[in-house]
Amino acid sequence: MLKNILVGQSGGPTAVINSSLYGVIEEGLRNKEKIGTVYGMVHGIEGFLAGNFINLSEVADNEPIDRLKITPASFLGSCRYMLPEDLGDKVYDKLFDTFAQMNIGYVFYIGGNDSMDTVSKLSRVALLKKSDIRFIGVPKTIDNDLAETETSFGFQSAVDIATNAIDCIHTTAASHSRVFIVELMGHKTGWLTLHAGIAGGADIILIPEIPYSIEAISQAIAKRTASGKRFTIIAAAEGAISKEEAAMSKKELKLLRKQENYASTAYRIGAAIEEKTGQEVRVTVPGHVQRGGQPVAYDRVLATRLGVRAAELILNHEYGYMVGVKDNKIV
Ligand code: F6P
Repeated sequence: MLKNILVGQSGGPTAVINSSLYGVIEEGLRNKEKIGTVYGMVHGIEGFLAGNFINLSEVADNEPIDRLKITPASFLGSCRYMLPEDLGDKVYDKLFDTFAQMNIGYVFYIGGNDSMDTVSKLSRVALLKKSDIRFIGVPKTIDNDLAETETSFGFQSAVDIATNAIDCIHTTAASHSRVFIVELMGHKTGWLTLHAGIAGGADIILIPEIPYSIEAISQAIAKRTASGKRFTIIAAAEGAISKEEAAMSKKELKLLRKQENYASTAYRIGAAIEEKTGQEVRVTVPGHVQRGGQPVAYDRVLATRLGVRAAELILNHEYGYMVGVKDNKIV
């Protein structure tokens, strides 16, 4: 009896996450002599644990699925759910019993770091249980912070939106002498802010990896003012952190954030700049806009290629991998 595929999406969606889903489904359906039914988890592993899944083969029989390639958001729904660290937890028994009942042979999980953690845990449990179910990770994140792949799909689409936000601020900035802060996504990594900041011509870029000093920022603003430039645009990652804060323990920082009660990072930085320089500051937070809209062509192609390659791995009996990009090639 042919083994079935189960595919799920998890974490923050990107504009392009469905393209990779399309790649997996399409490749599964094209190989009818090797693959049985393609099932989809509804709302990731969390939804699947609650008994929610759909038969994607049936969906594809009834309506063309190629529009998935250009449909933003995650078709299957998503979750932010971490599987237990204890690989002996009964959650795993429940999952593997359900996989067996559904005759699942291959599981694809599309997502970022937490999702790859899920793939890793399930693969390790499979070894412990001597199960021959295979798990493949497909890297998706607008943060572009997954190890072992040069890029992840969703990133370029988010960079375009974030760059556009900075571009739009230039219009107002040019007519007022103010400091503008555009806060971009990325709690732990600054790739998105760095790329959009460079592309959008931000004057100062603040990323979590390099703690900032309000003194240095104020000096840079003063230098611009002295040279006749009336405004300053700052691209700040939501996880940007000052040098003093970086030296604190996690507990101390959590307490400080609670006491300060700023709506978000940019407001905190803005207040500090206003206090130090006396300059008027305006804040823009595009937020989840960065994860939506139409994906750029680059991302659509990348996601489809990664999705197809993931399915090919299964067909070629190459298991236990995450697909990725190295030297511009899919590996
Ligand atoms: O998925 C990554 C990401 O977009 C981060 O850049 C951001 O910090 C986080 O998700 C926001 O998550 P949520 O939508 O769950 O608040």
